[in-house]
Amino acid sequence: MHKTELIVALDTPSLASARALMEKIGGGVKYYKVGSALFTAEGPAAVDLVHKHGAKVFLDLKFHDIPNTVKSAVKNAGKMGVYSVSLHLSGGADMFKACAELADRPKLWGITVLTSFNEYTLFRSGFRGGIDKTVKLLAAMGLENGADGVVCSPLEVHRLKAVHGAKLKLITPGIRPVSLGDDQKRAVTPAEARKAGSDFIVVGRPIIAAEDPAAAAAAILEDLK
Ligand code: C5P
Repeated sequence: MHKTELIVALDTPSLASARALMEKIGGGVKYYKVGSALFTAEGPAAVDLVHKHGAKVFLDLKFHDIPNTVKSAVKNAGKMGVYSVSLHLSGGADMFKACAELADRPKLWGITVLTSFNEYTLFRSGFRGGIDKTVKLLAAMGLENGADGVVCSPLEVHRLKAVHGAKLKLITPGIRPVSLGDDQKRAVTPAEARKAGSDFIVVGRPIIAAEDPAAAAAAILEDLK
């Protein structure tokens, strides 16, 4: 049966708060996301912390640069032993190809269109095809050039799975077990994401900001069964 894994976004300001959060959650969560805020504050120590906790790291630094530079960054991430890294698909085919050639590399997850974009902001950034078409084209380009998965809205999962099946892993933020009335406008529940076919869901505030993060994580893991 298709399995959906939980990645907890370690969106905490410091190593101490990240450690405290993981200790509260316990051992049930197998993947943590280290993003640019924690990484710029604490560096590779944040990655080590998750590894010492016994979990895998999705290093979400959203690389976007010339192929040679991104290839070096992905190589360094590989030396840290992370499970996956994110790269903007708009960085282009050559950037992905260069990274895909690396031996012993982390999984390459391509960012399609950020969920903070709407049609207007996407147009203003120079993309002329609209969100749906842009996501579809970027995902196909990524797969052709070595991406192992793409990060997309849960609302796009069904369509991308229909085209690419199991060849392309789909990683979805924008998950809300209950509405928090925050900046995730088009959120779905963990169970809805699982039914749509997400391979990984990324959850931050519903766990981090919960009174009982362990109970919040356990409820989501239950929902994913
Ligand atoms: O707190 P919340 O559950 O909204 O956290 C979602 C996480 O996923 C954040 O770390 C955010 O940076 C990330 N993310 C996102 N939307 C994307 C890509 C990543 O919300 N399109």
